[in-house]
Amino acid sequence: MSIVIITGGSRGIGASIATECARRGSGVILTYNSNQRAAETVVGAIEAKGGKAVALQLDVGDSATFPAFADAVRQQLTATWGRETFDALVNNAGYGRFNPIATVNEAEFDGLFRVHLKGPFFLTQALLPLMANGGHIVNVTSATSRVATAGVAPYAAFKGGLEVLTRYMAKEFGDRRIRANAVAPGPIRTELGGGLSADFEALLAGETALGRVGEPDDVGRMVASLLSDDNRWVNAQIIEVSGGYII
Ligand SMILES: NC(=O)c1ccc[n+]([C@@H]2O[C@H](COP(=O)([O-])OP(=O)(O)OC[C@H]3O[C@@H](n4cnc5c(N)ncnc54)[C@H](OP(=O)(O)O)[C@@H]3O)[C@@H](O)[C@H]2O)c1
Repeated sequence: MSIVIITGGSRGIGASIATECARRGSGVILTYNSNQRAAETVVGAIEAKGGKAVALQLDVGDSATFPAFADAVRQQLTATWGRETFDALVNNAGYGRFNPIATVNEAEFDGLFRVHLKGPFFLTQALLPLMANGGHIVNVTSATSRVATAGVAPYAAFKGGLEVLTRYMAKEFGDRRIRANAVAPGPIRTELGGGLSADFEALLAGETALGRVGEPDDVGRMVASLLSDDNRWVNAQIIEVSGGYII
């Protein structure tokens, strides 16, 4: 059985990735930041269908906690699966705070940087010794790194940085047969940044070739399939999952 770690697996896109990976037979370690109840709900839903999942707390913005998190992962691997390694890491956790460049303050900038770029960098570094050779890293980025939409500059810049980092991960971890890809969702109906208002959703749907915003499962299913052996030769790519957003 492959084992997948998904950060921010308690809600939205991450919850769908966790559910879809479990449905395809993977063991799942999902993390939450503050919403333990939501994480336990996802674990319960996976286990109700015969899967195996555990939830661990992790603030991706606090890299000082990553060694302790790696220890917690090591304990769970042994206790739950009788293994010393896991197979895939999905750096998905994130949040939205959107303001024009003219008004973004340093605390806002630094917070977004810690969660969307520094966090995935050092979390991957901390977990690498526990990842099996032949494993896979998926970094969840955003179509906002390709198209400039109003008010998302720091967020989009760090997602773009994470896409560059993805290529370096693929290059540097290739000797262990670990592949690394970025998945860039377009607008998805989640609670990110307070969720989408009806007017904004209609605007985004109008900018999307398939005529609607995405649902978490549109991304969850794609990531679960990307992790499978069917995609074993896909490496160092940025794959947009957006229904054709602003093309
Ligand atoms: N929704 C979109 O339109 C969209 C588009 C492109 C890219 N994305 C990206 O997709 C990813 C998932 O977003 P989503 O839309 O699913 O958001 P969401 O529904 O708000 O869920 C966010 C998840 O991330 C966790 N999280 C937030 N801050 C965290 C932190 N500091 N440390 C650890 N975990 C943290 C949350 O945990 P708690 O439940 O504990 O709060 C939750 O599990 C993000 O990287 C986002 O940037 C989203």
